[in-house]
Amino acid sequence: MHPAIALPTLIAHRGYSAAAPENTLAAVRAAHQAGVDWVELDVQLLGDGTPVIWHDADVARCSDGRGRLRRMRWPHAQVLDAGRWFGKTFEGERMASLEAMLALLNELGMGVNLELKVNRGHDPVALVERVLPTVLDALPAERLVLSSFDQTALRHSRTFATADRLALGVLVNRLPKEWRALCAEIDAFSLHAHWGRLKPAQADAIVQAGYALLCYTPNDPHAFHPLWAWGAASAITDEPEAFQRYLSASAS
Ligand code: G3P
Ligand code: MG
Repeated sequence: MHPAIALPTLIAHRGYSAAAPENTLAAVRAAHQAGVDWVELDVQLLGDGTPVIWHDADVARCSDGRGRLRRMRWPHAQVLDAGRWFGKTFEGERMASLEAMLALLNELGMGVNLELKVNRGHDPVALVERVLPTVLDALPAERLVLSSFDQTALRHSRTFATADRLALGVLVNRLPKEWRALCAEIDAFSLHAHWGRLKPAQADAIVQAGYALLCYTPNDPHAFHPLWAWGAASAITDEPEAFQRYLSASAS
C-alpha cells in the first residue's frame, strides 16, 4: 500500500522556475499563484549539516556568492542574494532552509516532490539521516514524494518509513536495465523519467508494472503531448502556465 496521493498533472520544477529564482520561497509562491498545487525541489546539506533547498554543488550560478555548499556554513549561506541573478525584482531573496520551505509548503497546503540531490562527493546517507526525520514529521504522506537519482539515498530512505507512509520515486536519466529490481527493492511509488529519452514501450512497461510515471523537464507542451497517452501522470515543468494554456485549449 502507498499513501493516497492524488498526483497533479503539473508539478512546478524547482518551484515555478521560469517565473522566479529556482528553489526559492518566491518560486514556490509563484507556483501557488499560478494555481499549481505541487512543486519539485532539490535538497542537500551545507558543510555544517544544514539542509537547504538548492540544486547546484556551488552557489555561483544562482547567487551573488562563490563557493561549494559542502564548504559553506549557514551563517554565510543565508546572507547570499539568491534572487538578483534572476531579476531585479527578486533582489534580497535568500537561499531557503529546508525548515523554512516546509513551513511555506504547509502554509500554502502544497505538495512536494522533494529530490534528494547527491552532488559529486556528497554523502547520501548523511543527507537522508538529516532530512528524513524532519520531512516525515512536517508533511502528511499525501503531500510528499521523495525521489533521487542516488540509489543509496533511496535505499536508506526506505529504512525510515514503510511504503504506506513514504512514497519513493526512482529518478532516471536513461531507463536502466535493472529498473524493475530497484523499484521492487525499495517498494517504489513512482518512476521519474527524462521525458525526451523515454520510449513508448518503456512508458507502457512502467505503468503496467504499477508505478506512477512522472516526466521531467518538458517545457514545450506541444512536444510533450504524446506522453499523456503513453501514461504519464505528471509533467515536472519550468513552465506550468504554458502547459495550463495548452491543456485548456486542447480540452475545448
Ligand atoms: O526531479 C526531476 C529533475 O529535477 C531532475 O533533474 O537536475 O533538474 O534536479 P534536476
Ligand atoms: Mg531536481
